[in-house]
Amino acid sequence: MKIAIVGGGPAGLYFAILMKRRDPAHEVVVTERNRPDDTFGFGVVFSDATIAEVESADEETYRAITEHFVHWDDIDIHYRGQVIRSTGHGFSGMSRRSLLDVLQREAAALGVDVRYETEVADLRGFADADLVVGADGVNSTVRRLLEDRFGPSVDFRPNRFVWLGTTRPFPAFTFYFRENEHGLWRVHAYQYEPGHSTFIVECTERTWRSAGMDRADEEETVAYCEALFGEELEGHRLIRNRSVWRSFPTVRCARWWTDNVALMGDAVHTAHFSVGSGTRMAMLDAIALCDALAASPHSPTEGLQAYENARRPQVESLQRAAQASLEWFEATERYMDLAPLQFAFTLITRSLRITHEDLRVRDPAFLAHVDAWVAEHAAEQTGRAVPREPPPPPMFTPFKLRDLVLSNRVAVSPMCQYTAVDGTVGDWHLQHLGSRAVGGAGLIFAEMTDVCADGRISPACAGLYKPEHVGAWKRIVDFVHEWSDAKIAVQLGHAGRKGATKKLWEGDSEPLDDGGWEIVSASPIPYFPGRSRTPKEMTRADMDQAVADYVRAAEYALEAGFDLLEVHMAHGYLLASFISPLTNERTDGYGGSLENRMRFPLEVFDAVRAVWPDERPMSVRVSAVDWAPGGMRPEDAVEVARMLRAHDCDIVDVSAGQTVPFQEPVYGRLFQTPFADRIRHDVGVATMAVGNISSYMDVNTIIAAGRADLCLLARAHLFDPYWTRHAAYMLGHDLRWPPQYASVQQYTPRFAFHFGGEGP
Ligand SMILES: Cc1cc2nc3c(=O)[nH]c(=O)nc-3n(C[C@H](O)[C@H](O)[C@H](O)COP(=O)(O)OP(=O)(O)OC[C@H]3O[C@@H](n4cnc5c(N)ncnc54)[C@H](O)[C@@H]3O)c2cc1C
Ligand SMILES: Cc1cc2nc3c(=O)[nH]c(=O)nc-3n(C[C@H](O)[C@H](O)[C@H](O)COP(=O)(O)O)c2cc1C
Repeated sequence: MKIAIVGGGPAGLYFAILMKRRDPAHEVVVTERNRPDDTFGFGVVFSDATIAEVESADEETYRAITEHFVHWDDIDIHYRGQVIRSTGHGFSGMSRRSLLDVLQREAAALGVDVRYETEVADLRGFADADLVVGADGVNSTVRRLLEDRFGPSVDFRPNRFVWLGTTRPFPAFTFYFRENEHGLWRVHAYQYEPGHSTFIVECTERTWRSAGMDRADEEETVAYCEALFGEELEGHRLIRNRSVWRSFPTVRCARWWTDNVALMGDAVHTAHFSVGSGTRMAMLDAIALCDALAASPHSPTEGLQAYENARRPQVESLQRAAQASLEWFEATERYMDLAPLQFAFTLITRSLRITHEDLRVRDPAFLAHVDAWVAEHAAEQTGRAVPREPPPPPMFTPFKLRDLVLSNRVAVSPMCQYTAVDGTVGDWHLQHLGSRAVGGAGLIFAEMTDVCADGRISPACAGLYKPEHVGAWKRIVDFVHEWSDAKIAVQLGHAGRKGATKKLWEGDSEPLDDGGWEIVSASPIPYFPGRSRTPKEMTRADMDQAVADYVRAAEYALEAGFDLLEVHMAHGYLLASFISPLTNERTDGYGGSLENRMRFPLEVFDAVRAVWPDERPMSVRVSAVDWAPGGMRPEDAVEVARMLRAHDCDIVDVSAGQTVPFQEPVYGRLFQTPFADRIRHDVGVATMAVGNISSYMDVNTIIAAGRADLCLLARAHLFDPYWTRHAAYMLGHDLRWPPQYASVQQYTPRFAFHFGGEGP
């Protein structure tokens, strides 16, 4: 096979080596614009896991590389005059120069033809190649030449960073957070060979400009950073090497190959430096492409597709982690008031890849300190005794809102059951909510409960608009109070333009076949254009009526004995329709600015607050974003939460979307948690996180990191009403069973069984 590789960086050289090693008959030519001894960049990092893959792909290169390794296990976080150390993280570093030396030597020994100081400007010279590989880095010429085929996107991030080196040997992967008159500066530093370390300085654009770094050349940058970090550098100098300030570009490509041309390494994807170097991703690409071609010897096209199929999911997963990580560094200012231990915990878990449970394995002593801190904080917050030795897992610490104390941080998210008769809940709801209360969650949300008959989503939705509804709810509330430690919340809602629709399983938001009833909304915009009923634009009289309905429902909820009242302002229902600019086109005092759009929802909130007892808390569910152009953005949700807090809302339940049918949500694990985190810290109000939270590892991580105060789980609770009990069992936490089930205390659950022999 004739292989032409553009770029003699780690990706190109390593791929050349692997191909030659697999079959010395391959003709491999690498074209590189630099000289062999050009030294751009400082250190590169490998995690223990990555290097194991390099070992199994090619032992010789592995041995040559690892000779240069500096290994470390610790992360040191310097924050507000303290150093917090966490261990067990297993990384190795080496210089980029040494890595290239190793790769260049191996390549030469194997007969790879590396042509240095040769710029590739077009692909004409490669007409006779069977395979052309674009391994030409972040500004790839190959990618640009075939742009229409590869469909690249480059997301330039707002923070600025500069890549520097220093002779100070850092004993650990070291983070500094230093504030001066211009703002907050982050440093990521690690030793990559004895006596040499990488020293990356990062800041927001505002800080960068304010410090004059937008006008600074390399020398001035070094002078500024040396003065700023004099203490940290301990007399050592900073070293520059093409050290210009940059914005990190996240590169993605719709396709990784076309015809006989493939991209690899930085040319096809990048991931922020804070999750490790792009070098290891580049080398893993090389391994994957080599394996895929070997597995399809008669069809390179199949091989290229197999390469993309194998690597893309791994790369995208890493890019998601990198996105969470870079966003943490873009918003570090938000966390600067945290206690040192919690700051360290949130930093270490920022990419959402390392959880509370991982730290139990990596660094149990650090985790014990974190758990003890969470327990102490919970004891202070609630005035309850919380054991310290050992402390409970974070999810099993109590939480207080006004006079209400929840025994743990898990809540069953509200879920419509579409099983009520004329608004009256019955046996289904008793078992649904009752079994989840017995299942151990600290707080049980009843489903969206409508304040008037016309405010129902479907004819089978629950209500609190008739006196007989009160008794039906009271039966359930009393059961929860009598037979569990759980508290129970009502979620009051009005469906607005999403009313008069079918049950969820008959068609989500689909209008009733028989036409339903008249619906109202902020503006007369049907949900599905041409299919849904057009809502009536609410008049002031309609608004007065709705306020009265909410107040009556709140009084009924009090009579039924609910512990917490939530006003539903999310998911495109009536109050949400006022908040989102996509559904509110009013020209009166209730439309236009966010303040105006919030007027009616806040009026409802105030009216309910006035009749809801002072000692009982109130929450509001919001859609933090609409996932649609022109809709609500995370920064708008922060302002909404600020207004809610000013109106004495105790906790914000942070959901997202469902405002418009053309939404384009970005789903994933914990996909809405960052909104709860942002609101909690920017506004200083308690929050609930919800959305694809399904493991106890994630709940413990969210609570310990302070990303939210409570975690709501919906579908996980449908699957397993005893989710919290099962989590307690797995964590070795003693959660008492009700007396009727006391026999379980001596029981070892087993789901699968094997009669000896081989098997898991
Ligand atoms: C200047 C610089 C400094 C860096 N410093 C570090 C660091 O200290 N630590 C770290 O972990 N990561 C660093 N990185 C990022 C990291 O090196 C990359 O993620 C990683 O090298 C990706 O490997 P790659 O082979 O895909 O791309 P690269 O390493 O960028 O290699 C691409 C190669 O292609 C060559 N090339 C590009 N265009 C052409 C062309 N048209 N014709 C011929 N040759 C071409 C380039 O000269 C380069 O040698 C640095 C990157 C750069 C560019
Ligand atoms: C069957 C079902 C019914 C739901 N009903 C409601 C509801 O009444 N009120 C509400 O605010 N959210 C409702 N939701 C949304 C959930 O409360 C939750 O926000 C969403 O399912 C994401 O959480 P999860 O990933 O844990 O399932 C419902 C979700 C499901 C699956």
